[in-house]
Amino acid sequence: MDKKSTYFDNAATTPVDKEVVKAMLPYFNQIYGNPGSMHSEGLKGKQALDSSRETISKILNCEPEEIIFTGSGTESINMAIKGIAHHQNKKLGKGNHIITQKTEHPAVLETCEFLEKEGYEVTYLDVDRYGLISLDELEKAIKSETILVSIMYANNEIGTIQPIKEISEICKKNKVLFHTDACQASEYLNLDVKNLGVDLMSLNASKVYGPKGIGLLFLRKGVTLTPLIHGGGQERRLRSGTENIPLIVGFAKALEIASKDKGLECERLTKLSNKLIDGILKTIPKAFLNGHPTKRLPNNVNISILDIEGEAALLYLDKEGICASTGSACTSKTLDPSHVILALGLPYEAAHGSMRFTLGKNTTKEGIEKLINLFPKIVKRLRDLSPVNLKAEDFKEYLSEDNKKISGVNK
Ligand SMILES: Cc1ncc(COP(=O)(O)O)c(C=O)c1O
Repeated sequence: MDKKSTYFDNAATTPVDKEVVKAMLPYFNQIYGNPGSMHSEGLKGKQALDSSRETISKILNCEPEEIIFTGSGTESINMAIKGIAHHQNKKLGKGNHIITQKTEHPAVLETCEFLEKEGYEVTYLDVDRYGLISLDELEKAIKSETILVSIMYANNEIGTIQPIKEISEICKKNKVLFHTDACQASEYLNLDVKNLGVDLMSLNASKVYGPKGIGLLFLRKGVTLTPLIHGGGQERRLRSGTENIPLIVGFAKALEIASKDKGLECERLTKLSNKLIDGILKTIPKAFLNGHPTKRLPNNVNISILDIEGEAALLYLDKEGICASTGSACTSKTLDPSHVILALGLPYEAAHGSMRFTLGKNTTKEGIEKLINLFPKIVKRLRDLSPVNLKAEDFKEYLSEDNKKISGVNK
């Protein structure tokens, strides 16, 4: 079996598509002029930059000038949130209140915490059991000081998809700017910024079979922000630094491929994810799905398994050539339970045994079958060693009917 078919960590990063590598290669050492240079080699770099921007603008349904290339999703998010906060508050003298929600990626949460230290006020909205915010609560949280709402498109740990269009309508009605972190959405969801109604949107290439170290910020025409990085004035003076042409070309190619493949791949991965969810919940007692049952990314499977430590299961799976994760790659180095799982209202014990499997282009039926076959044995081995034995009855509100049966729970 191809090793890649048992790589279930595509939310952390995807391999770079062969076509993307091919598109990038000439721009390392054949066409290498600085797009800012006034000679023919520079012009070739400028042409590649312009045409990549044009390609991406068609996918996002925006003007090419509304795209600002950055060095990562994290940078785009920092630029959006700090940049809008500083411009609106310090330059325009508007309010100092930002609204976000509790299951955001650390790139958003840490940026908001940084701004709190500068004196901004941040509201962190709660989510429900499935990871969705309440639109009513969002509307109630908006006040005259509110300058920005930042709500992610799709969650990186549990795959829950937020109602972006409805959120943008509320923001528009209340004249508040709206940013969305769409890093996990780009491979599978609609990125049409006009349709979504967003003012700012952050994306990166490393989740869409493009290279790492390149991101972009969509900044709607007429919206201004204070730059994070000052220098030579590239990217409309909003993000200085020589443009990384090979990575930008790769990003455009990756988004182009994703926009063509979307429908069929979503269908294929939904089937495989459902097979995996079913396979786990029918064979491992005291296990349940996290995230929304239908409003979820087609490639995301997040399961809580009681009485085990997710990290231990990861190591056993890795020994068998299976790569998975317990949460976001950015926070997986700590043993703290996931802030996302805790925000769903689940107890600590459930957060400790949560595991994320994210499928991708290389996932096959055989890879899924291997995982379904091995995983229950690994869980059993860990449970045999575990001093914890939680009562399934106490978790019955989370268990599926099939799982209740094998967990010995009465209706
Ligand atoms: C939802 C989300 N936002 C932001 C990021 C950060 O992106 P990058 O690693 O490109 O900085 C990630 C990547 O893990 C993500 O999944």
